[in-house]
Amino acid sequence: MNAETRSWVEIGELADIPKEGARVVKTSAGCIAVFRTADDKVFAMDDRCPHKGGPLSQGIVHGTSVTCPLHNWVFDLATGLAKGADEGSVTVTATRVENGKVLLAADDLARRQAR
Ligand code: FES
Repeated sequence: MNAETRSWVEIGELADIPKEGARVVKTSAGCIAVFRTADDKVFAMDDRCPHKGGPLSQGIVHGTSVTCPLHNWVFDLATGLAKGADEGSVTVTATRVENGKVLLAADDLARRQAR
């Protein structure tokens, strides 16, 4: 599915997310952490570390990765996969930025609700 054929939900302004920081979007299926990298890429994933539930939105963003604030596992923001020796993954939600607004893929959000 390409970006044009998907439907998207606007969640706010890119400017509201600090560079190398995150904001949390609450959904009925749990919280999603929306990250902004130093070069203004935006990624979204569940705000729950698969290790022991740490709040990934409070982690350190570096490059296109985030380090969990609790025990320093590192996750790839694009794939949600743990890096290095750790194993596990976080469910990611597709994002796009349009005219300064951040959008999340509606079908990914619907899939989360179905879990
Ligand atoms: S809870 Fe995230 S690394 Fe332990």
